[in-house]
Amino acid sequence: MISVKSFSERRRYLASQMQKGVAIVPTAPEQVRNRDAHFPYRFDSYFYYLTGFGEPEAVLVIVAEADKGTSKHILFCREKNTEREIWDGFRYGPEAAREAFEFDETYPLAKLDEILPRLLADQSAVYFALGHDTAWDTRVIGWVSQVRQQSRSGVTAPAEIHDIRLLLDEMRLFKSAEELQVMRRAAEISCGAHRRAMQKTRPGMNEYEVEAELLHEFRRHGAQAPAYTSIVAGGANACVLHYIENNAALKAGDLLLIDAGCELDGYASDITRTFPVDGKFSPAQRDLYQLVLAAQAAAIAEVRPGNSWDAPHNAALRVLAQGFVDLGLCHGSVDEVIQSEDYKRFYMHRTGHWLGLDVHDAGEYKLGGEWRPLQPGMTLTVEPGCYIRPADNVSPHFWNIGIRIEDDVTVTETGCEVLTSAAPKGVAEIEELMAERKKPE
Ligand code: GLY
Ligand code: MN
Ligand code: MN
Repeated sequence: MISVKSFSERRRYLASQMQKGVAIVPTAPEQVRNRDAHFPYRFDSYFYYLTGFGEPEAVLVIVAEADKGTSKHILFCREKNTEREIWDGFRYGPEAAREAFEFDETYPLAKLDEILPRLLADQSAVYFALGHDTAWDTRVIGWVSQVRQQSRSGVTAPAEIHDIRLLLDEMRLFKSAEELQVMRRAAEISCGAHRRAMQKTRPGMNEYEVEAELLHEFRRHGAQAPAYTSIVAGGANACVLHYIENNAALKAGDLLLIDAGCELDGYASDITRTFPVDGKFSPAQRDLYQLVLAAQAAAIAEVRPGNSWDAPHNAALRVLAQGFVDLGLCHGSVDEVIQSEDYKRFYMHRTGHWLGLDVHDAGEYKLGGEWRPLQPGMTLTVEPGCYIRPADNVSPHFWNIGIRIEDDVTVTETGCEVLTSAAPKGVAEIEELMAERKKPE
């Protein structure tokens, strides 16, 4: 759990970074699915990062006055409403929200248009995610214009609009001990889901039946949702990188690639495992699998403070390129295969991304044009793969094999911690676990 105090400290730190100005951070809108049915609600990650407040229709406003060493934290939210609470459930209302979330002031959302121009008067800067949502852009610019119209009475309007995401992305990139605790638990639940999938999978089952096992495990441990749409891809489907139909029958002799992770209390996990539908790797599958596993080990070994963001990717790439040459999939030296990008026929994505509240989390990958150095607290995925589609110049016994192995890793003071090591990935480990399966249920 992230404590109320931590959310409040994040706001204070943001205010200190802003120096002077007004931050405006709305949460995400509810999305209509059809008529009066909505998609399950998910708050905006920036808003939640600063508040811990999960209701829709809410806006955070921070007034920073670094010269006075103070900042004021204001929440606008839905009012209590007996009728709506009977239908839709509890809402805090401004008064209870102020106490529970330690805001300085809280108001009903309906007061936003009245209060914001007052707060913006005589301020020099607005911090806002301009361009994210045109309706909010128009509203914020409208408030600034209202202030400008009062100039004859001596009021000055903010002259600068800063992108608040630049400050927040940098904060979100470094995970605190509390955040890592939540992420470890999310990872643990997802590891259990991958184990369960390995134990339940049988030839003849459908991909969606395995997906159901993952969802079952996520929810029964309290994860609110999958962090992204699960990929459950048997055989050739594994060569479609974003395959989400999950509706094909699973065949003996094929591999099953599962990319699935839960979201717990706002934080994502992101794991891929690839295993044989019938519990036993074929020689060609094993060769390629061991190659991807070795590439992943080489990449994880490069996750340590001071190494560049690119170091794990380059390490994985060298191992994969060498393997592609050894297996006759690519020709020439490793350097030639990398230089010519011939490897991209089989490995066309990069080796990872930041992970946090969003599965592809906030944070710059380069600073001043250079890949940035890894630092303690940064959390990323390491996910090499290979995907071999039928082609004239590729030996047919490799055709339609798609493999990815993905773990979640945090940079520590001395190296890294793999958050997802409880999901089996060694060949023997997977085969042993799957051998324990009983006959069809
Ligand atoms: N599950 C999305 C990704 O691996 O990037
Ligand atoms: Mn990923
Ligand atoms: Mn993934």
